[in-house]
Amino acid sequence: KPGTPAPAALLAWYDRHRRRLPWRAEPGRQADPYHVFLSEIMLQQTTVKAVGPYFTGFLARWPTVSHLAAAPLEEVLSAWAGLGYYARARNLHACAQAVVARHGGRFPDDEAALLALPGIGPYTAAAIASIAFDLKASPVDGNIERVVSRLYRVAEPLPGAKPRIKALAAALTPAQRLGDFAQAMMDLGATICTPRSPACSLCPWMEPCAARAAGDAALYPVKAPK
Ligand code: ADE
Repeated sequence: KPGTPAPAALLAWYDRHRRRLPWRAEPGRQADPYHVFLSEIMLQQTTVKAVGPYFTGFLARWPTVSHLAAAPLEEVLSAWAGLGYYARARNLHACAQAVVARHGGRFPDDEAALLALPGIGPYTAAAIASIAFDLKASPVDGNIERVVSRLYRVAEPLPGAKPRIKALAAALTPAQRLGDFAQAMMDLGATICTPRSPACSLCPWMEPCAARAAGDAALYPVKAPK
């Protein structure tokens, strides 16, 4: 019977194999909440590779959330051209203005206050809370859903299984290094626990993974028929 997935094993793997991404701080440093916010909005429905140049372009042009809030919406929309889903750019701008109006231009270090901002949903609030502020929060994106559903062989199909997967992810979350843990989960899903032919032999959680033990990792997450 597989044991419990230990955060320490995942964090040790992350220390060796973390992806260097433009919005991440150097190891041991705290990420800038504006960088986390901007990248997380861009990464919704867009790949890490495609986001890179847009992220650095936005930062060069609008180095702080106050600069972005002061920009004309039309300029933000035209800088967004190519990323698609323009509602994201409108929300980005509205959120920047709310951070200035409500919080004096500093992102609040509080998950509920983040969630109350326009354009920030549960995933993004949890991502900023954990990655920028090291608060106990569990962002669950598609990568993390896959990792968790395999660890526990969650039989219920998505999307119905989402609350259960969220609860399992929250239960795995350690008390320290919250930001590193969230990003380690993302990196594990993106590089090892991939949708097809996962590289289980390289996985720091190979031993406690129920799907690995059963040899059926590729069957998870189970999806409801369309
Ligand atoms: N996908 C969504 N957020 C991400 C992040 N912070 N790092 C890597 N991939 C991501």
